[in-house]
Amino acid sequence: MRSCVFLLSAAFLCVTSAQFIPPYTEDCRTHMYPPNGPTFRGPVSWYTVDLDLPPSKRWTPLITDKKTDLVNMIQAIRDLANAFVPSGKLIELVDITLPLMVNTLPYPFNEEIKGISTDSGVPLGEVVLFNIFYEVFTVCTSIVAEDNKGNLVHGRNLDFGLFLGWDVKNKSWTISEKLKPLVVNLDFKRKNQTVFKSTNFAGYVGMLTGIKPHTFTLTMNERFSLDGGYIGILEWIMGQRDGMWMSFLTRSVLENANSYEEAKKHLAQTKMLAPAYFILGGNQTQQGCIITRSRELSINILEIDLKLGRWYVLETNYDHWEEPFFLDDRRTPAMKCMNQTTQANMSLKTMYDVLSTKPVLNKLTTYTTLMQVSEGKLESYIRDCPDPCMPW
Ligand SMILES: *[C@@H]1O[C@H](CO)[C@@H](O)[C@H](O)[C@H]1NC(C)=O
Ligand SMILES: *[C@@H]1O[C@H](CO)[C@@H](O)[C@H](O)[C@H]1NC(C)=O
Ligand SMILES: *[C@@H]1O[C@H](CO)[C@@H](O)[C@H](O)[C@H]1NC(C)=O
Ligand SMILES: *[C@@H]1O[C@H](CO)[C@@H](O)[C@H](O)[C@H]1NC(C)=O
Ligand SMILES: *[C@@H]1O[C@H](CO)[C@@H](O)[C@H](O)[C@H]1NC(C)=O
Repeated sequence: MRSCVFLLSAAFLCVTSAQFIPPYTEDCRTHMYPPNGPTFRGPVSWYTVDLDLPPSKRWTPLITDKKTDLVNMIQAIRDLANAFVPSGKLIELVDITLPLMVNTLPYPFNEEIKGISTDSGVPLGEVVLFNIFYEVFTVCTSIVAEDNKGNLVHGRNLDFGLFLGWDVKNKSWTISEKLKPLVVNLDFKRKNQTVFKSTNFAGYVGMLTGIKPHTFTLTMNERFSLDGGYIGILEWIMGQRDGMWMSFLTRSVLENANSYEEAKKHLAQTKMLAPAYFILGGNQTQQGCIITRSRELSINILEIDLKLGRWYVLETNYDHWEEPFFLDDRRTPAMKCMNQTTQANMSLKTMYDVLSTKPVLNKLTTYTTLMQVSEGKLESYIRDCPDPCMPW
């Protein structure tokens, strides 16, 4: 079985011993948009990243603005590490070993990470840690849907911070809470023209959510697998470096691919350090797919197929041809709400409704992003999930 099943069961016991929260579902939400009420914490601000600047200088305006929040988040990670290994030895190890690793990371990511460390004053090893180990703690929901006029709508919830410190008093995940102030929208420009846009965490240089306006939209979800990220990351440290970091691949595709087909090819064929799901939307009818990846290759591509009545594709963190783990079934409720919405009523508004329905919305949900390729639109919202609410 997957490592995640074990970890989730452990987390479930851990959380339920604190206070029992039954699997919590609700009727599909409606009229949630424009975002308001207790599940909407606030809007996300925009920053420009100028790709014409040297990599070490690109993030300076953002990091200067977000320095305090970044330092707070890193401090929370340190506190967690010190709770596991009280001597402080774990962070000492990170500070000593991970800076050595930064030079093995591909350009321009190595230079960008060094720049972020300089701009924020956060030790280099801890910035590296934030950039590479995110992927162990992410669970998500991504959907690409086609309305009955052929417009593609792409939505996602980014659920981050699983296992990273359950705060019994506040009934929240410590790191998820600390990440919310770091959520930003980024406009990547070259020669003063937008190349792509994304929703990101300040201090993180890879991409989990992005749009190339009028061309394609892309999100990445974690895929738990025995041949998982740890092995690839260990191999990287040991010197075997022919695979690509997943979120660097998505960023490179957003930066360089010029069509849905080209993006699909790179996402399906590039060797990677860890398995993943890529959810890709194009700019024409039936251009929407889930690419299920092993480290080596694409195992399966599921596309929108109107003839078969498949007007959307939806991915959480389980292979679409298998049942989701029963303690973590966000797929069935999300599909139920998509089916209830119907293709005729699909829009950014109704997508937001689906992504606002518990447990698709849960205690880990840090942000919801909505993208419409034909208008080049990306909008995102910081989320809360007041009780009763599933921890994931
Ligand atoms: C718990 O929540 C309250 C109110 O939202 C906040 O002020 C406090 O800092 C939180 N405590 C922790 C440990 O996060
Ligand atoms: C960049 O574009 C914006 C509008 O898109 C314009 O207001 C600004 O003057 C431009 N800056 C430069 C340096 O060309
Ligand atoms: C869709 O993308 C292709 C490839 O970049 C481009 O040639 C075409 O003009 C785009 N179509 C629309 C409707 O934007
Ligand atoms: C949603 O509709 C699809 C296609 O008709 C169907 O295969 C699926 O079982 C439905 N799922 C739910 C949860 O209603
Ligand atoms: C779709 O939208 C129309 C108009 O807003 C509404 O009358 C209808 O009830 C909706 N259908 C569903 C299935 O929600």
